[in-house]
Amino acid sequence: MKTKILKLLREQGGYLSGQEICGKLAVSRTAVWKAVGQLKEEGYVIEAVQNKGYYLAGTPDLVTKEEVGSRLETQWAGHPTVFLPETDSTNNEAKRLAEAGASHGTLVVAEFQEAGKGRRGRSWVSQSGTGIWMTILLRPQFPPSQASMLTLLAAMAVADGIEEVTGLRAAIKWPNDIVFRGKKICGILTEMSAEPDYINHVVVGIGINANIREFPEELGEKATSLFLEQGKSVNRAAVIAAVWKAFERHYDQFLKTADLSVLRDKYEERLINKGEEVCVLDPKGNWKGVAHGIDERGRLLVEVEKQVRAVDSGEVSVRGGYGYV
Ligand code: BTN
Repeated sequence: MKTKILKLLREQGGYLSGQEICGKLAVSRTAVWKAVGQLKEEGYVIEAVQNKGYYLAGTPDLVTKEEVGSRLETQWAGHPTVFLPETDSTNNEAKRLAEAGASHGTLVVAEFQEAGKGRRGRSWVSQSGTGIWMTILLRPQFPPSQASMLTLLAAMAVADGIEEVTGLRAAIKWPNDIVFRGKKICGILTEMSAEPDYINHVVVGIGINANIREFPEELGEKATSLFLEQGKSVNRAAVIAAVWKAFERHYDQFLKTADLSVLRDKYEERLINKGEEVCVLDPKGNWKGVAHGIDERGRLLVEVEKQVRAVDSGEVSVRGGYGYV
């Protein structure tokens, strides 16, 4: 009920009478009054004026069922969404839910992660109340060999979602870091449980530095946040809703061709490495070349000695020729 009231008030943008709310939700005036009272206690500024009704004048930066639920415009991504004040890692939680039979599209969002995980066994600092830490559970019908492309889809969705809410144009460092001014604002960790020819499930974990005002010294050189980039706080629930709306759109598009052929141009528009020298961190030995873009499978095309090599994100990562990007 609180979710529905918030949605109605937000859509209205001005005053909405108590009577109209009662009619739309088929509940009593007392029930509306009580729910509005609870929302106010949670930090919402709701003005109530006689003969005019209720007006949503201010929204707290909460990552709650009501705040995210009232903004989510997806068909399946985020249905259901599980909200946790804290967990070890949203990826771990999504995997536990997957084992227990949770459905495609289930989303886990946490305020705090005790043991946030990064790529290649690294840890991911996940402060409470200021970041967006979330993981979606997917049960794709395509073969495991195509799963690495999901990570590129997620990167596009994050960049699009951030741009929709803040107007800021994010770049992508292949395969899936989101960067501003050469600093990382988001990391994505995709994990899969599969048989040789069958995917049991995939979890795509996204960490966005949203309202972080300050980073520990050792991170400050490499990391940034939406707060630092736009000089003001962002509504985290709005970003979450925008990311999943974009993700759903890209995912459904991806399924039509089972590759990135249609999305490739859009991805490359954001690709910070395009036309730049990159250092490929290959377990068999690092090498340098010039990145030209991606192929339809999401592999980075790197030219070295007049030959173009396609490098796979599962096997290698890249650095800029002279630094992180
Ligand atoms: C990276 O190293 O760039 C990937 C970082 C991924 C962090 C996110 S935060 C939400 C989800 N849960 C985790 O434990 N990790 C991912």
